[in-house]
Amino acid sequence: MDRIVVTGGARLEGDVRVSGSKNSTLALMAAALLAEGETVLHGVPKLQDVETMLQILNALGASAAFDPSQPDTVRIRGDALSRPEAPYDLVRKMRASFLVLGPLVGRFGFARVSEPGGCAIGVRPVDQHLKGLAALGAKVRLDHGYVEASTSGLKGGRVAFDVNTVNGTQNVMMAASLAEGETVIEHAAREPEVIELATALAHMGAEIHGAGTDRISVVGSKQLQGITHRVSGDRIEAGTLLAAAVITRGDIRVQGVDPVAIDATLQKLREVGAEISVEGDTVHLCADGPIEGVRVVTGPYPGFATDMQAQIMAVLSVAGGSSIVTETIFENRFMHVPELRRMGADITVTGPTAHVRGVPKLMGAPVMATDLRASAGLLVAALAARGETTVNRVYHIDRGYVRIEEKLRSLGASVRRER
Ligand code: EPU
Repeated sequence: MDRIVVTGGARLEGDVRVSGSKNSTLALMAAALLAEGETVLHGVPKLQDVETMLQILNALGASAAFDPSQPDTVRIRGDALSRPEAPYDLVRKMRASFLVLGPLVGRFGFARVSEPGGCAIGVRPVDQHLKGLAALGAKVRLDHGYVEASTSGLKGGRVAFDVNTVNGTQNVMMAASLAEGETVIEHAAREPEVIELATALAHMGAEIHGAGTDRISVVGSKQLQGITHRVSGDRIEAGTLLAAAVITRGDIRVQGVDPVAIDATLQKLREVGAEISVEGDTVHLCADGPIEGVRVVTGPYPGFATDMQAQIMAVLSVAGGSSIVTETIFENRFMHVPELRRMGADITVTGPTAHVRGVPKLMGAPVMATDLRASAGLLVAALAARGETTVNRVYHIDRGYVRIEEKLRSLGASVRRER
């Protein structure tokens, strides 16, 4: 199993380009099942989660693969789909597999998808996804750990979500794109990945209004057509690199990201003390002054992303003064805290709130985490720690960051991967 070894202390400097968005890609790959003909996605990040989604699509009988002649391009054909069943062994590897449920019911009238169960960051039920599909007329039942949904034809309906759910909103949007008539989704998630999926579904032939607001309407089409789409830059990777620059008092330019999509992160990093300017798809951050403690409350978009919480906490662990970090999305997303404490951070957790008292310096240590963003937080901390930090269980980081050690090295960090 690989590990990443970081010798902290180097100031990050230079230019770096982010890869395509993991979470947009996963939804777009599922959406390809809805369409006749081929869907071509460019700018796809080569990540473990993308490989898992390819395996799922192929297990369903679709044909899906990276194009051997274009390394960041994936080609997907769902026409020949033969087994609308997503097996436990694949779904348990990655919860986002559940995104195939909506497309399968929409296109084939039947789906059997393993119930994903809880994961390292929380219980994460799928009740809202199921409620949404039921509102479109699908019969949904649980059978030995599998969700089975069937219909003789989906009909548009009204879905009012009880919680803000990104993948739930996406699942219903995809099913509704092949339903007869109009579906209205109230309390819809407003995340950029929802907007990007809506753009793709509209290009396939559905009529969609309101993506990016909390009320989305979808008028289904009888048939959707495969599309060619370029995936947008990963906003969480961008935020992670910017946090890494702040903790090392660096000066970097992150290219290939929509600055609006990371506005909450940019605002918070400015509050912490960084100077940030934006031009087109490039964010320039310079942080040579002191780091100040701040208050962070995660929230649905446009709030501060839960996927950036561990990384900002790493930064705040060396800030002047205290910070309060409240996690409102997932109930168990502080797994990085005990590991940061082993590196010398002074953090106490009470319920959903972490109280961070900044220390002058972190110390390198062997650490590991059980989730992707927690691991990213530890990597950020390691870049500023005295001495060597070994981040174990790197497969978590590889699920969401493309060759992160190479990108950090290109900015001047001392980072290597060991087998
Ligand atoms: N929830 C329910 N019922 C549901 C669905 C969600 O109670 O039916 C709850 C969840 O348990 C959670 C909250 O609603 O407490 C929000 O969950 P959401 O459904 O929005 O999360 P998700 O769609 O499963 C996506 C991203 C996550 C990201 C969250 C929040 C993908 C593949 N995953 O998950 O990304 O943290 O939205 O923004 O899009 C990551 O990339 O590391 C990651 C975890």
